[in-house]
Amino acid sequence: MEDLKTAAVRGSGGRLAGKSCVVTGAANGIGRAVAELFAREGASVVATDLDVDGLRRLEKQLPQAVSTVVGDVSRDEDARRMVAAAVERHGRLDVLVANAGVIPLMEITEAGADDWDQVMAVDGRGMFLTCKYAIEAMAPSGGDGAGGGRDGAGGAIVCVSSISGVAGQRGQAVYGPAKFVASGLAKHLAVEWADRGIRVNAVAPGTITTERVARLRDEPGGPEYLAAIEQLHPMRRLGAPEEVAAAVLFLASDEASFITGAVLPVDGGYLAQ
Ligand SMILES: NC(=O)c1ccc[n+]([C@@H]2O[C@H](COP(=O)([O-])OP(=O)(O)OC[C@H]3O[C@@H](n4cnc5c(N)ncnc54)[C@H](O)[C@@H]3O)[C@@H](O)[C@H]2O)c1
Repeated sequence: MEDLKTAAVRGSGGRLAGKSCVVTGAANGIGRAVAELFAREGASVVATDLDVDGLRRLEKQLPQAVSTVVGDVSRDEDARRMVAAAVERHGRLDVLVANAGVIPLMEITEAGADDWDQVMAVDGRGMFLTCKYAIEAMAPSGGDGAGGGRDGAGGAIVCVSSISGVAGQRGQAVYGPAKFVASGLAKHLAVEWADRGIRVNAVAPGTITTERVARLRDEPGGPEYLAAIEQLHPMRRLGAPEEVAAAVLFLASDEASFITGAVLPVDGGYLAQ
């Protein structure tokens, strides 16, 4: 396990050499692991988030590769600025990782309309807005409709969905439908833009030990809750952010040049059940 994780974290270097990338929700968790791996693979990364301190830490850690934009993906003007920053700073946009999201843990009977609106605003509308502006930025450099992306022209988008955005689960009815937006956008946009050289895919992570999930171990009932979730994954463990980042890197890179519209589970076998 440790070896696998170490290999995923290390990266081979150069798989995104010279690419201009935007990662949303990059200050923490999966987005942070993606930004770190992309930087090691030679990308110029515009890291975006609401969390000013988290972005500052990331920029300090990787000053050559990472610059930042503070903003809220659910706000039209902010989403537009995130993409515009990559074009202004690096001349174009090659890759968007639409990762920013909130994960409410509540049953439908506990939730009100505001809870639904909040998760849909970030995980739904924010995903739509960042994809929209990324496609607008990638479109001019895309193909002419004849071939489609074999030389990497155009761009690649990876939407971070979830196992909850592919299948039903207990207790996820407030969050899961918003993650279906990520899986759905990946499929619809993939078909619409394939002949203009823009690939759009999604990853569907199982439960991942981000800082937030790891903190549950110290909360009352947390260890039991996590142990129960581990048992739901056939590998009988949770995933690491770096393991999701490795899958995102593959889909974003030219190695995935004939893959579009895919929703790749990164879930220890969860969705195979
Ligand atoms: N952790 C998991 O188990 C898991 C599993 C499946 C899918 N996911 C998905 O992975 C993505 C990242 O989640 P994570 O677990 O790393 O969470 P996280 O809370 O560790 O990180 C999410 C980041 O997004 C930022 N963010 C939240 N709302 C934002 C907004 N409106 N605008 C800009 N940034 C915003 C947060 O500040 C934070 O830095 C989410 O889309 C989530 O749905 C997570």
